[in-house]
Amino acid sequence: MELQAVIEKRQSIRRYKEGDVPKEHIEEMVRAAGLAPSGKNIQNWHFVVIKDKAIMEKMAAAIKAKNEEMVAEMMKVDEAKALRFEKFAKNFTLFFVNAPVLTVVMSKVYTPSGYNEYKLIGADDETLKDLLHHRNPGMQSLGAAIENFYLRAVDLGYGLCWLTSANYAAAALEKILKEDCGFEKEGYFLAALLSIGVPEDNQKSPAKLPVEEILTYV
Ligand SMILES: Cc1cc2nc3c(=O)[nH]c(=O)nc-3n(C[C@H](O)[C@H](O)[C@H](O)COP(=O)(O)O)c2cc1C
Repeated sequence: MELQAVIEKRQSIRRYKEGDVPKEHIEEMVRAAGLAPSGKNIQNWHFVVIKDKAIMEKMAAAIKAKNEEMVAEMMKVDEAKALRFEKFAKNFTLFFVNAPVLTVVMSKVYTPSGYNEYKLIGADDETLKDLLHHRNPGMQSLGAAIENFYLRAVDLGYGLCWLTSANYAAAALEKILKEDCGFEKEGYFLAALLSIGVPEDNQKSPAKLPVEEILTYV
């Protein structure tokens, strides 16, 4: 497909047809991801592919358990917010169990230029936090890789959902990766999930802002 057509076809896919995503296709997606630019060429990504339904279900259960634990505490302070959080997990996280493939995107911390230098000269926490968290080049690099992965997947006829709404349960998911899948990578942390499969028809996508609203010439 032409690049522009792939970009325009891409939308979040949360319902999938049954069927496998062959290894060659997954490797095409990962190869595209690996071609992305990254700060200092750190290539701070690693993709863990899960096809085993029992593992996916265990992950979903761990997210649900964490969600319930948080909801129980939240109920004591704000019932409406607690119920919203519970519903959000149901609608926008746990659907990944129905995807033929779940890819866990692992990343590692990138220390931005100027961070250690600021530290050396005794910069305050706000300045350090601003550089490390708000402008985070490591996550910018990872986003570029995930988008490449995503677009190649669409080009091959698949649909994806990029999920970070399970990140509050990341420790539990990393534990499953370690104990049930034997996967552990020094210095890497779970950053996102990608559910992948052939899309079911008629999935809605929200409107995008017009160019005039996201562009300023000065
Ligand atoms: C970093 C990131 C995290 C996201 N996390 C979730 C998620 O946890 N659950 C979900 O259903 N969608 C998630 N999405 C998908 C967004 O909701 C979606 O991209 C947005 O609503 C625009 O819709 P579109 O992708 O169909 O254009 C995420 C997207 C991005 C880029």
